[in-house]
Amino acid sequence: MSADTPAFLAACRGEPVPYTPIWIMRQAGRYLPEYREVRSRVSFETLTRTPELAAEVTLQPLRRFPLDAAILFSDIMTPLQGMGVDLTFDPGPVVRAPIRTDAAIDALQPLVAERDVPFVLETIRLIRAAAPGNVPLIGFAGGPFTLFCYLVCGRPSKEFETARAFLYAQPEAAMRLLERLADAMAVYLGAQAAAGAQALMVFESWGGLLAPPQFERFALAAARRTLAALRSRGVPLIYYLNQGSALLEHLAALEADVIGVDWRSPLGAVRRVLGANKAVQGNLDPAALFAPPAELIAQAERVLREAGNQPGHIFNLGHGIWPQTDPDAVARLVDVVHERSARRGASA
Ligand code: CP3
Repeated sequence: MSADTPAFLAACRGEPVPYTPIWIMRQAGRYLPEYREVRSRVSFETLTRTPELAAEVTLQPLRRFPLDAAILFSDIMTPLQGMGVDLTFDPGPVVRAPIRTDAAIDALQPLVAERDVPFVLETIRLIRAAAPGNVPLIGFAGGPFTLFCYLVCGRPSKEFETARAFLYAQPEAAMRLLERLADAMAVYLGAQAAAGAQALMVFESWGGLLAPPQFERFALAAARRTLAALRSRGVPLIYYLNQGSALLEHLAALEADVIGVDWRSPLGAVRRVLGANKAVQGNLDPAALFAPPAELIAQAERVLREAGNQPGHIFNLGHGIWPQTDPDAVARLVDVVHERSARRGASA
């Protein structure tokens, strides 16, 4: 790839970079006063459905911090509204009629992106027109199992008991719902790439709740189906799994370029299991942003050290940034990651 390939895209492909790129999950959000200002005027749903506003909040963190990637402002549940799911946000997703029967599964419509989510595609075009050329745009979707969790349970939950029980009680129906979601997300992500997204990320936030055999049979099989349909798009594919330390061996065989992990998995061990062909993304504890400056720097350095000197590390938090976070701590983190990794020669 040429010398002016953005560091984020080079790192996704496991190529040498002059410094470790960094972006932050939920980087556009309530910890930013300028986001809260926009949200004081419109609902979250209106924000995600109004391209000018969604593009504006996507760009907000880029104006404050020299981040190495932008991520589309939307939600994992947004495309499901286009498939006929009646959904509100409070602030997490609430599904009015949770999906638990064959009839409800059959009533889900296949996603036609241009018809069902034109505002997302327009948001992507607006962001691409306005974002700096060296800051690639990440498009995203929920992992099939994570979407399944919200559809079956109807709202955020700690254990998603009803969804997990459904896998055992009605495995065939569960698989059918997962496959529908996998196919819809393949369509959705493909349309995002066509509209200009330069990398595609699948957020499988709740996959780590599963026992390894269930993870493999349901969550991983469905994610494979989505990713396989996207390979030909030619953009890096990122798969994020929360609480996946016991599932890493399964991920080594997944057709993703980058695996995102939470803070419970030491990156050195992650890289040993995944092998040299996969890049890793992560994994500072979001709580570390509340440390005094010197300790935050030490924690960022520890993550860089664990990631090692071989190419293919994208710095991030291990999960989304908390709304109570001080934006100055984010500024400090971005600077220290750039500065310390450049001084070490990153992976050059
Ligand atoms: O990262 C970004 O900056 C892009 C925007 C983004 C949002 N949601 C905006 C949002 C992304 C990538 C997501 C993904 C998402 N949504 C996930 C996967 C990542 C993860 O965090 O595990 C999940 C599980 C959801 C479902 C969801 N949406 C929840 C649980 C909530 C409530 C969370 C909270 O922080 O209270 C939402 C709502 C939501 N999505 C908000 C934002 C900024 C808060 C809405 C508000 O402004 O009121």
